[in-house]
Amino acid sequence: MDDEILKLLREHSSSFLSGEEMSHTLKVSRTAVWKRVKNLRASGYDIEAFRRLGYRLIRSPDLLTPSEIKPLLKTKWMGKVLHHFQTIPSTNTEAYQLALRGAPEGEIVIAESQEKGRGRLGRHWVSPPFLNLYLSVILRPDIPPPQASLITLMAAVAVAEGIECFSGLHPVIKWPNDILLKNRKVAGLLNEIHSETDRIHFVILGVGVNLNMDKKLFTKEIRSTATSLKMETGKTVSRKEFVPCLLEALEKWYTLFLREGGKPVLEAWRERARIRGKAVKVTSFGETLFGRAIDVDSEGRLILETEKGERKRIVAGDVEYSRK
Ligand code: BTN
Repeated sequence: MDDEILKLLREHSSSFLSGEEMSHTLKVSRTAVWKRVKNLRASGYDIEAFRRLGYRLIRSPDLLTPSEIKPLLKTKWMGKVLHHFQTIPSTNTEAYQLALRGAPEGEIVIAESQEKGRGRLGRHWVSPPFLNLYLSVILRPDIPPPQASLITLMAAVAVAEGIECFSGLHPVIKWPNDILLKNRKVAGLLNEIHSETDRIHFVILGVGVNLNMDKKLFTKEIRSTATSLKMETGKTVSRKEFVPCLLEALEKWYTLFLREGGKPVLEAWRERARIRGKAVKVTSFGETLFGRAIDVDSEGRLILETEKGERKRIVAGDVEYSRK
């Protein structure tokens, strides 16, 4: 009912809406309306109430609930169903379970905080409440499993573009899918695939964006390598206004990828990553390699020329730019 009350209040934002009218439209008692208004106030909504005039919505909080995000969202299908949680172990785990139960492409899980936020390669993702974005999208691409890593590159391009549209800053990508601002990580992607040998059942695209984190909130290990939009712009950013920018970019790039294949994605990825020719240190499955990055191949693997002159294709790992 919260959604319906907010919708009514928004439709009458320039005037008051009487308790009687609300109870009539929502088919509940006036006491029930008053209780919901009290709850909404407790969640941060500023709602004026006068005995003779009724209710008026003055200000909404920066929450990632469907009722806050949906009025701002201009996507065609992505995020039309949005599962919102105050807290959850991990949005990826929840989305995975939903997808196993048949949830369609485009459904989204979003949380105000995560208790066990997961990063790539088994790492932890710092996920304190009401500061950042923790979101997972269910995708069901009809592509062969080896192409699934292109979804990762596609998502990196989309997240970078979403950040750019929203902030005017110019994020770059570090292989495979770290999003950096001034060399510090502002966002990361965790893609999980459920497939059989020749068919993908679904992909869970997990996106974490540091929006309003302050430096001291990052763990010591990542404090010097992580950043947030607030740290870069000096201003608190609106999380609910960021989500539409991100989802619109994701929908656009995913649609393009399905229609035209990996070519435009790889072009945009290369443009943002500018990895060709860079001296790199690559850590992959416990092995450290130094060399020069040649490119990414059509399946998103990093082509590396090692110091010994060997060519290697790296499927997963971490890259650091080295001065060698
Ligand atoms: C990385 O290590 O760079 C990937 C981080 C991905 C974090 C996001 S937050 C939303 C989703 N849920 C998770 O548990 N992880 C991803």
